[in-house]
Amino acid sequence: MTSTHAFWLAGRQATGETSFDVTNSWDGRLVGKVSIPTEAQVEEAVAAAYAVRDEFAATPAHVRAAALDHVSRRLAERTEEIALLISAENGKPVKWARGEVGRAVSVFRFAAEEARRFNGGEAQRLDTDPGGVGRLALTRRIPRGVVLGISPFNFPLNLSAHKVAPAIAAGAPIILKPAPATPLSGLLLGELLAETELPAGSWSVLPVPNERMPALVQDERLPVISFTGSGPVGYSIMDSVPRKHCTLELGGNGAAVVLGDWASEADLDWAAGRIATFSNYQGGQSCVSVQRVIVDTAVHDRLLPKIVAAVEAQVTGDPSDSATDVGPLVSEDAARRVESWVDEAVSAGAKLLTGGVRDRASYAPTVLAEVPAGVTIADEEIFGPVLTVTRVDGEAEAFAAVNDSPYGLQAGVFTHDLQTAFRAHRALEVGGVIIGDVPSYRADQMPYGGVKQSGTGREGVASAMADYTYERVLVLTGLAL
Ligand code: SIN
Repeated sequence: MTSTHAFWLAGRQATGETSFDVTNSWDGRLVGKVSIPTEAQVEEAVAAAYAVRDEFAATPAHVRAAALDHVSRRLAERTEEIALLISAENGKPVKWARGEVGRAVSVFRFAAEEARRFNGGEAQRLDTDPGGVGRLALTRRIPRGVVLGISPFNFPLNLSAHKVAPAIAAGAPIILKPAPATPLSGLLLGELLAETELPAGSWSVLPVPNERMPALVQDERLPVISFTGSGPVGYSIMDSVPRKHCTLELGGNGAAVVLGDWASEADLDWAAGRIATFSNYQGGQSCVSVQRVIVDTAVHDRLLPKIVAAVEAQVTGDPSDSATDVGPLVSEDAARRVESWVDEAVSAGAKLLTGGVRDRASYAPTVLAEVPAGVTIADEEIFGPVLTVTRVDGEAEAFAAVNDSPYGLQAGVFTHDLQTAFRAHRALEVGGVIIGDVPSYRADQMPYGGVKQSGTGREGVASAMADYTYERVLVLTGLAL
């Protein structure tokens, strides 16, 4: 019999009165049962977080840094077990799940380092005007208050880490609400946090059902909301609490541009391999996976067959097999949606170069060309293992094609030319431009987030800490400067 996973309420384990099932989308097996907190238990967690906020903000940096280092170390020690857990609840191939654990190890380590550096104290002399003679301003960052972190299913461990670790580093209590499809990784994070000396109340992991979230979102004791997930949900949260500080990490339809100077056989082999891998990793369920490949006509006819061959070389199958590159999507419903978007494009005249087949929750790695304007996949985020290839003539047309999207998360530009790189950085309406690689590159310490409908605010440990805090100035007077 499967035991029921407790949740974490103000640093201790607790169970509610009901539970829900977590299943594996590859074979439908039950992975675990998860206890659901009652309304009274949610209230207890919020009250505890709110009550401890001043004490937590004043906790010495070494205490918070030691806790973060501890979690980082424990994640590293338990990598294989945690990777299997992520793969079981999410359907993600275990090779990618191992990578995700490695990234979470780094996120907690970066957060420990930032906790030690944070609030080093900025001094600004004010005697640059006569009224400021003898005056000095010191600035430090103060937590805005308790953070409500809402994490998605696609990186259930690392995107939870991106909420929790910066909050602890900044001294802000956090209530983490993991995705209903993949709550086990967030609960595992709770297990590791419980091994630390962090004050009770400074963190909770509550698998609250989505339909009960509006009340929590409205709660005035939680002034900061950090959400990663779909655009409609993210914007409905922000619109419902316009006076709260919201960070939204939403979708994208990542573009990889291959320009005419990226032309040697080695160049094109590298681009094709990276494009194939990162349009299909996690079944394409990443906000920065490659969806749109925009290729200069000078290299298009040589690159396209290489992309198709590289996509066909992706190993599909059982996510628990280390050889598997592409497993199932998170659910059969998700795979059916992907199927319907591809079918719509093909009916409208797009050319299906490979893939286009669904088997239960799995969708075959797919390449489409000549996709007509106006079909759903041309504009929206597919969040599946599908890429489209578009031929363009020159850099300006390529950059215009990237910007012809409601989204703006990251873009990749394959070029050797430094001037082109700078022009791309200036012209592309995205939160990050990656030169010589796909848009899917994310280093966890760098600022990460989008413009347009890809969201607002930035993650990345230091950026999230800035987001969770505000500047408070102390002016000293009568000083001999
Ligand atoms: C996302 O899907 O937004 C996160 C991508 C990543 O962390 O690599």
